[in-house]
Amino acid sequence: MPNSWDVESWRQKTALQQPEYPDAKALAGVEQTLSSMPPLVFAGEARQLRADLAEVAKGNAFLLQGGDCAESFAEFSANNIRDTFKVLLQMAVVMTYAGKCPVVKVGRMAGQFAKPRSSGSETVNGIELPSYRGDIINGIEFNEGARVPDPERLVKVYNQSAATMNLLRAFSQGGFADLHQVHRWNLDFISASPAGERYQAIADKIDDALQFMEACGLGAGTSQFRETSFYTSHEALLLPYEQALTRQDSLTGKWYDCSAHMLWIGDRTRQLDGAHVEFLRGVHNPIGVKAGPTMDPEDLLRLCDTLNPNNEEGRLNVIVRMGADKVADGMPNLIRAIEREGKKVVWSSDPMHGNTVKASTGYKTRKVDDVLREVQQFFEVHKAEGTYPGGVHFEMTGQNVTECVGGAFQVTEADLADRYHTHCDPRLNADQSLELAFMIAETLKKARA
Ligand code: PEP
Ligand code: CO
Repeated sequence: MPNSWDVESWRQKTALQQPEYPDAKALAGVEQTLSSMPPLVFAGEARQLRADLAEVAKGNAFLLQGGDCAESFAEFSANNIRDTFKVLLQMAVVMTYAGKCPVVKVGRMAGQFAKPRSSGSETVNGIELPSYRGDIINGIEFNEGARVPDPERLVKVYNQSAATMNLLRAFSQGGFADLHQVHRWNLDFISASPAGERYQAIADKIDDALQFMEACGLGAGTSQFRETSFYTSHEALLLPYEQALTRQDSLTGKWYDCSAHMLWIGDRTRQLDGAHVEFLRGVHNPIGVKAGPTMDPEDLLRLCDTLNPNNEEGRLNVIVRMGADKVADGMPNLIRAIEREGKKVVWSSDPMHGNTVKASTGYKTRKVDDVLREVQQFFEVHKAEGTYPGGVHFEMTGQNVTECVGGAFQVTEADLADRYHTHCDPRLNADQSLELAFMIAETLKKARA
């Protein structure tokens, strides 16, 4: 691969999973518009996340990444953003308190709109239409007009992401994430569930500890308690959008993709000679790469060479998503290759994308038990290999949806139709997410003891 890189060098490579815009001029106009817009994040913030992730790579912290499979225009509201943020805060508190481990929080939010699809088209009742590729590309409605890729959607996504980002910044720094508010993060519908009750018990203890510290004159009023760091991420799939938001940092002269703090490459677009790898190798954000069951250990090593040539801790996050039945067989070879070559990576587990099944009722779903099992296996394999299980990557929401089966509320296949709102893959609801956080906290505590 030639070493010269610029924001457009990806255009010389094959870019999979890109829409075909009927009007190239309209797309170019939108790209022009977006490249003059303010960045959504700053280079310094992306550098701070890299530093935080370097601590994860060293085994001193844990990465919690989560949010929608696909954000949408229809589900966009302050309440939805708030509730997802609340659940991520709760999960982080559980892991920090019960797991005794600092947690780096990264939302799949404020930019997670483009979806890779296994098929380019979808057939319903004998009618074949192009697949829905996420609200940044086309509409989910099953009619010909909706499925035409529309560049104006990029601008709408930018604006929605800016508004989301603005609210997240306010929540994380404006008092909402203050540890003194820990009781308020419990959502009404889970307060009576086992996970909700366990959470209340932790919140009580944190309250006690804060009051004790304040009584002693210790700094419970300091910013560590009053605000939190919260980062954003999404799959860097739609390259014209990513390029248009890429800026050269005035301080260091380096390029950053300022659409989010962290970007990842999906399992379907991680070809070494492909456009996605080419684009992301040149930006200095922390980068993730998904590793499904077909990831070859040698390819993973080459990806490390290309995406992290200086082998820096905190740059590269390998997100393993093999499925509960495959991870114990598939992951050791990847870990051994990385260890043998001394590559520095953060390992995290995406227990969602290898565990998608079709329910008898036709809905795409996931079993909470499979999700829990994949995370457990992920921890066990790392324990056996003597490496550090650095984090988790979930599709979840703060809403009381019925998209994944199981959990304390025993969502069944028949229940899926009740509140199935996702625009793409099934998400854990707030209660199921919290249950998972407790399981992880216990495992973390044991692993760190
Ligand atoms: C996703 O994270 O939504 C996704 C499509 O994942 P993967 O690339 O692992 O299939
Ligand atoms: Co998904």
